[in-house]
Amino acid sequence: MEIIITPDYESMSKTSAEIIAKEIRRKHDLVLGLATGDTPIGTYRELANLHKAEGLDFSKITTFNLDEYLDLAPLHKNSYNYFMWENLFKHVNISPHKVFVPQGNTDDPEVFSDWYERQIRDAGGIDLQVLGIGRDGHIGFNEPGSSFASRTRVKGLYEQTIKDNARFFDKEEDVPRFAITMGIGTIMEAKKILLIANGEAKAEVCREFIEGPVTSQITASALQLHSYAIVILDAEAASKLKRKEYYNWIRDNKHIVRKQIGR
Ligand code: F6R
Repeated sequence: MEIIITPDYESMSKTSAEIIAKEIRRKHDLVLGLATGDTPIGTYRELANLHKAEGLDFSKITTFNLDEYLDLAPLHKNSYNYFMWENLFKHVNISPHKVFVPQGNTDDPEVFSDWYERQIRDAGGIDLQVLGIGRDGHIGFNEPGSSFASRTRVKGLYEQTIKDNARFFDKEEDVPRFAITMGIGTIMEAKKILLIANGEAKAEVCREFIEGPVTSQITASALQLHSYAIVILDAEAASKLKRKEYYNWIRDNKHIVRKQIGR
């Protein structure tokens, strides 16, 4: 994993948006995996700015969102589908028929999940998957104990996740207890992965998934096994890392490697 530590939320968001924009410019029909939550809001704002200011073109890309609450209709104001349209899609020139978000109110979540996996495969697989991380180490809604081989399916949410996400709802009782989520196996098949995290509340779990052992109890630790994973943290989320100086040194000395390989 490449660890990039940025001073604050703004620079974390700018850095991650630049990485995503670079991939879109490199491959116009990029298949992009997306996350919701507080963390990526700044990144999506930056991408919308790049679209407006520099004409960053979303018209040929396909997107797949990680997850959706079970039983919420796509237009429900707490649904992740609604979140994505409010925070990114309506601000850029994306083609609505190339946008995929799991359908929370599907009649048959199992059939739907298989269909979702097929859509990802038929699109050629995910080129770049954007992730946030929960305080219990989840990516997508793969709560502690999720199999590293898991595919898109229904998962029950942990008490901690329900409490953390209650801020988006009128009251905690309204938070759905289940969600449809891509599995760890699905996420790990993405060619590149970009995880972003900010704030002191994420500091402990960031230390665990980056510097601790690979364990299904912290599902983000599976990224240690990925061949191309970038993690961008703000200073608060990075505050408990033991090897901070080393990551900064690598970042500041990358030119040495480039020189050695003649670039
Ligand atoms: C959301 C998702 C979750 C969030 C995580 C962090 O689509 O997959 O794993 O990324 O719960 O949420 P925030 O960013 O609100 O702290």
